[in-house]
Amino acid sequence: MTDSTPALELRGITKRFGDLVANDGIDFDVRGGEVHALLGENGAGKTTVMRIAYGLTQADAGQILVGGHALAIRAPRDAIGAGIGMVTQHFALVRPMTVAENLALGRSRGLRLDLSQAGRRASDASERFGIRIDPTARVEDLSVGEQQRVEILKALSRDCRILILDEPTAVLVPGEVDALFATLRALVADGLSIVFISHKLAEVRAISDRVSVLRRGKLAGTVAGSTDERELARLMVGRPTFGVERPPDATVPSGAPVLSLRGLHATGPQGLPALSDLSLDVRAGEIVGVAGVSGNGQTELVEVLSGMRRPTAGSVTVGGVGLNGADPARMMRAGVGRIPEDRHASLIGDLSVAYNLVLERLDDFRRSGRIDERMVREHATELMQRFDIRARADDPVASLSGGNIQKVLLARVLSRDPSVIVVAQPTRGLDVGATEYVREQLLARRGAGAAILLVSEDLDELLALSDRLVVMYEGRILGEMAAADADLEHLGMLMAGRGIAA
Ligand SMILES: Nc1ncnc2c1ncn2[C@@H]1O[C@H](COP(=O)(O)OP(=O)(O)OP(=O)(O)O)[C@@H](O)[C@H]1O
Ligand SMILES: [Mg+2]
Repeated sequence: MTDSTPALELRGITKRFGDLVANDGIDFDVRGGEVHALLGENGAGKTTVMRIAYGLTQADAGQILVGGHALAIRAPRDAIGAGIGMVTQHFALVRPMTVAENLALGRSRGLRLDLSQAGRRASDASERFGIRIDPTARVEDLSVGEQQRVEILKALSRDCRILILDEPTAVLVPGEVDALFATLRALVADGLSIVFISHKLAEVRAISDRVSVLRRGKLAGTVAGSTDERELARLMVGRPTFGVERPPDATVPSGAPVLSLRGLHATGPQGLPALSDLSLDVRAGEIVGVAGVSGNGQTELVEVLSGMRRPTAGSVTVGGVGLNGADPARMMRAGVGRIPEDRHASLIGDLSVAYNLVLERLDDFRRSGRIDERMVREHATELMQRFDIRARADDPVASLSGGNIQKVLLARVLSRDPSVIVVAQPTRGLDVGATEYVREQLLARRGAGAAILLVSEDLDELLALSDRLVVMYEGRILGEMAAADADLEHLGMLMAGRGIAA
C-alpha cells in the first residue's frame, strides 16, 4: 500500500430494501491520517453504506477494498480482521460488566476472558490516545460520553486502523463533543482513518479533512472539509438556501384566547410539585414559545394538555369549553393535537406506517365493525405524499429514519386540523431539511389560525417561530416577552430563575 492508496475504498455500493434504493452506486474512500465525514439528511443512506463496510449487512452490488485489495466482508468478524471498527449509535456494551471485561469480550476465543491482556491493551490505548477511562468501572455507571470512549477503546484494542463513527455526537453534551474531537485528532495524527457520520454542518466542518455528501441514496459530491455551510447544505438538500423565516405578517393576534390555562397545579415524578399556579393564554394564529431549562415543569405541562396527567388544581379551557380532568381521547376531540417529545412512545414501532397514521382514529376506518385495509392504505398514501414521508406504507415505523418518523407523527396530528397544537422539541435530532419542513408546517398551521404552544430547549427555534415567549421556571411562568424584541440576556436571566425588576 502506497501513500496514495486509500485505507478503505467503497466502489459502486448499491443496496435495495424492496423497491427503495438506500444506496445507489456509492463511491467513497478514506485515507490514512484523515477524517472523512459522511454527511446527509435523515434517510440519505449514511448508516446503510457503513453497515455494509462493517459487514452488518451485504451490498447488492459493489466492491470493498482495504489497503487496495478487494475483500469479501460477510460479517463484522471479517471487517474487524481487516482493521475496520465501527461505533454504532446504540452501544453494544455489556452494562453490568466492567470496562476491562467489555474490552476482553471482543477478543477472547473461549469463555475465559483474558482480563490481564485486555487491561493492558486498554491502558496502552488510553495512554497513547489520551482516552481516559477507569478499566475497573462498570459500564452502567458511566456517562454516555464515557461509554462512547469505551466503544472507541474496544475498537482500538482490536487493532483497528479504520474507525467508523455513526453520529457520535448525537448523544453527547457540548463539553463531551470537544473531548471526542480531541481524541479523534490524536487518532488521525497517529495515522488512523476515521469515517465520521453526521448531519450537523458545523461539526462536520470542525473535524473533517474531506466531506462526502449523500442525497437520497446517491453521492452528491465529495468536497474539502473547509467548504462553507451554504455549499454543504446545498449538496445535502439539493437547494441553494434553507432556513425558515417567520412570515412578515407577524402581527400579534388580538383574537380571543383559544387555549386558556388558569392557576394550574400538578405534581410530577415522586409526587413533587411540577406546576404551580401556572396561567397562560394562546390565541388563534399565535405561536407561544415556552423557554426554560428542562425539568422546570415543561414535560408536565405538555402531559396535562394532552390529557395524560390530571392537574391537582386550576382549569384548562379550549375554545371556551372546560376540559378539567379530560383524558387523551377527550382532549383530542376538543381539538387539541399533540406532538410529544418522545416520538417512540406515541408510535408503535413494529406496526406499519399506514396503521400508525390512523392509530388514534381507527374507528373512522371501520366498515361494519372491520377495519377497511384499503381505506387505511389510501389515507396513508395521501398523507405520505403530502408530508413527504420517504418510506412505504407497509414499512414498520421503526425502520424509518428519524426525520421520517417525526413526519409520520406530524402528519397524524396535523391531518386532523387541530385548533390547538401542543408541540415539544419538534426538531430535535432532525437534519436541516426535515427541520425546515417541520417548521414550515407549524407556521402554515399558525397562518391557518391554530393556537400553538411550542416547548423547546432550542432558543434559536423559539425565536424563529414564536410570536410571544414565556419562560418557565419551577413550574410557573416567570416572564413574558414578544419574540421580536426578545433580549437574550434577559431571557437567560429568567431561565436561571432571576426575575428582573425592570
Ligand atoms: N432494514 C431496513 N429495511 C427497510 N428499509 C431500510 C432498512 N434500513 C434502512 N432502510 C431505509 O433505507 C434508507 C436509508 O436509511 P439509513 O439508515 O441508511 O439513513 P441515514 O442516512 O443513516 O439516516 P439518519 O440520519 O436518520 O440516521 C431509509 O429510507 C431507511 O428507511
Ligand atoms: Mg443513520
